[in-house]
Amino acid sequence: MGCEGIDDMSKESLSITDNRTGKSYEIDIKNGSIRAMDIRQITVNEDDFGLLSYDPSLGNTATVTSSVSFIDGDKGILEYRGYPIEQLAEKGTFLETAYLLVHGELPNKSQLENWETDITHRTMVLENVKKFMEGFRYDAHPMGMLVSTVGALSTFYPEAKNVQDESVRLEQTIRAIGKVGTIAAWAYRHTLGYPYVYPDNDLSYSGNLLNMLFRMVEDKYIPNPVIERAIDVLFILHADHEQNASANTMRAIGSSLADPYSALAGAIGSLYGPLHGGANEAVIRMLEEIETVDNIPSFIENVKSGTDGVRLMGFGHRVYKNYDPRAKLVKEMADKVFEVTGRNHLLDIALELERIALEDDYFIERKLYPNVDFYSGLIYQAMGFPVEIFPVLFAIPRTVGWMAQWSEAFGDREQRIVRPRQIYVGERQRDYVSMKDRS
Ligand code: CMC
Repeated sequence: MGCEGIDDMSKESLSITDNRTGKSYEIDIKNGSIRAMDIRQITVNEDDFGLLSYDPSLGNTATVTSSVSFIDGDKGILEYRGYPIEQLAEKGTFLETAYLLVHGELPNKSQLENWETDITHRTMVLENVKKFMEGFRYDAHPMGMLVSTVGALSTFYPEAKNVQDESVRLEQTIRAIGKVGTIAAWAYRHTLGYPYVYPDNDLSYSGNLLNMLFRMVEDKYIPNPVIERAIDVLFILHADHEQNASANTMRAIGSSLADPYSALAGAIGSLYGPLHGGANEAVIRMLEEIETVDNIPSFIENVKSGTDGVRLMGFGHRVYKNYDPRAKLVKEMADKVFEVTGRNHLLDIALELERIALEDDYFIERKLYPNVDFYSGLIYQAMGFPVEIFPVLFAIPRTVGWMAQWSEAFGDREQRIVRPRQIYVGERQRDYVSMKDRS
């Protein structure tokens, strides 16, 4: 609140007059927001429930306080626990970043060593989990396999349901980060019909993932250092992104005190959609459909006219109204990867598409810029991955952010079970009609 004696203009509050009743209310402003519950007192009569705010898709509603990651969408800034994403991507490793997101501080040398050991020793999964995965059809989408198998982990680790216990939460976090890569890699191998590869504890997190994905008959898999580092950097960039659809799902499921694997399964399901983590897959399908640079202008016209609801996939973001900082870093990395893998044949179409879109009024007016998914799929494809696995490669690092945010909620005394309101617009109080009288 503003200081006493200073005029109303300096007060941290909002004055509202309800024109239905002529009554005025003063509502506190804190951190640039008002509390939605403060407007409930605004009523027209005694029977009135009180004023609600209507916010489909939560476009202007903060549901949590958080100190995990920060985005300034107008300036194109992303920070994890205050550290700029550019610095973490240049100097950090994925597991170091995971420690930062989970614990809030960068680890010292021994903390990092212990963390890496702890996670590495959780990469093995039980043989029953493997058998469970073997039950999927040969053409199962790996994201569907990931959703189900991660959800099934709750049956193997029943102690995970003790969610109020901080040490149990940390144990599940380490376990989830360790196992998600193994399950993801096995989902990929399943689609190829190849035997599943067990983890190799001598390798880094990303190196071991490549081992479980790509090892064939060699005695020891040696990852290419450029590819290994590229995966590590991509994972740093995807590790958290504040309150997106999947983080919100994770928190919503967690708010009922469900175990974290059930919540993770929900979060992965939310990520699966083409408007979220499935966009990297959709970008490649779009570029393949465009086929040649010559077809770009007519494709752009279709997007602008909304023909068949077609969108420029990998473009636009609810929060970024500027270039997504992650997209910049992914684009820079693409060249290094292509030196090893060979240039992706779709790159020319992507570059030209970006150039045309960034000069077009439709995209300029709506502040639509490339997001992280625009170039990441090109890199994954050049590395030899089929498109179906792309959202899975997003889910592996995002597990860190989901678990960090899930655990954070337990320290927030204001968090209760998530229970939004609705504006009911349907019929009311109708009498049952017998079958013979229905039209
Ligand atoms: N192509 C064409 N038009 C677009 C696009 C696009 N990719 N994105 C937004 N628009 C238009 C939209 O039609 C609307 O126009 P109008 O005002 O004339 O109706 C306007 O821009 C605002 O769009 P919106 O749908 O209200 O924006 P939103 O904040 O609800 O959606 C989004 C955000 C990411 C879902 C959307 O931009 C989109 O569908 N992008 C393509 C999918 C994609 O790349 N998703 C990955 C997001 S980043 C990775 C992640 O975190 O998951």
